[in-house]
Amino acid sequence: MDHSPKQYVNLGCGTRYDPNWINFDIVPAGPQVRPHDLTRGIPLPSGSCQVVYHSHVLEHIRRAEVKSFLRECLRVLKPGGILRVAVPDLERICRLYLEKLEGALKGDQRAARDYEWIMLEMYDQVVREQWRSEMWLYLNRDSLSNEQFVRDRIGNFRDNDPPAHAALVRPSLLRRLLRTSARQIIDSLHWFKPARALRIGYFRMSGEVHQWMYDRHSLAKLLLDIGFANPLQQTAASSQIPNWKSFHLDTAPDGSSYKPDSLYMEAMKP
Ligand SMILES: C[S@@+](CC[C@H](N)C(=O)[O-])C[C@H]1O[C@@H](n2cnc3c(N)ncnc32)[C@H](O)[C@@H]1O
Repeated sequence: MDHSPKQYVNLGCGTRYDPNWINFDIVPAGPQVRPHDLTRGIPLPSGSCQVVYHSHVLEHIRRAEVKSFLRECLRVLKPGGILRVAVPDLERICRLYLEKLEGALKGDQRAARDYEWIMLEMYDQVVREQWRSEMWLYLNRDSLSNEQFVRDRIGNFRDNDPPAHAALVRPSLLRRLLRTSARQIIDSLHWFKPARALRIGYFRMSGEVHQWMYDRHSLAKLLLDIGFANPLQQTAASSQIPNWKSFHLDTAPDGSSYKPDSLYMEAMKP
């Protein structure tokens, strides 16, 4: 196996990427991230990559486009190359939902508070129509009596500073002015149904909402259907990718998981 990081690709990297990898995002967070809409394919030659990784991206891709996206992942991998996928774990959300619901119904106040959060995990990112969603409001409350539960689910949400190498690329002043003016005009026409539909449509096509959710059964089946072999569930720290933890993509330097709500799965190109 060739371990040259340049054969390693991070798709939809957001602000979490290794500058030595090939990183793509529709909204690049720094100069080491190539701007690209992944629903148009992966702009790399066939059989050129040893590792393709995406974290919390697959659930943002529309159901109708997911198979062609994964076929692209298969195409760019070399035979024997590894695809690593992280997604929110639908099974865990559902198990917690039932556990917290039963507790809440028995009058357990703590379970009732956790229930409120797990409902947001299940639905908010699917139905939201604006950034200041129900989840955003919840996370921005002055104090949360179940803060530890929320942290155990989504990691350190109060300290979301991007890593040092991820100097966010800001659009030009003119672009920002045009965007703000367009948004203000559309917002002022909120009583006019087509304008409201336009605003909601733009937001929902921005890559922010969850288009589908996956569990260990459906994700493994999807990968096999595409032509990957041997789908194996992993943890944040475990991987068939050599020196995985050294890249700090799923685990922090202290070994903790960045996104504890994740399901991790790897599969191989035959
Ligand atoms: C939830 S964030 C995850 C970021 C990062 N991978 C992580 O785990 O922290 C989803 C990322 O996917 C990117 N994204 C969504 N749709 C995309 C598309 N069609 N093409 C490229 N990137 C996309 C978003 O811009 C965003 O950075």
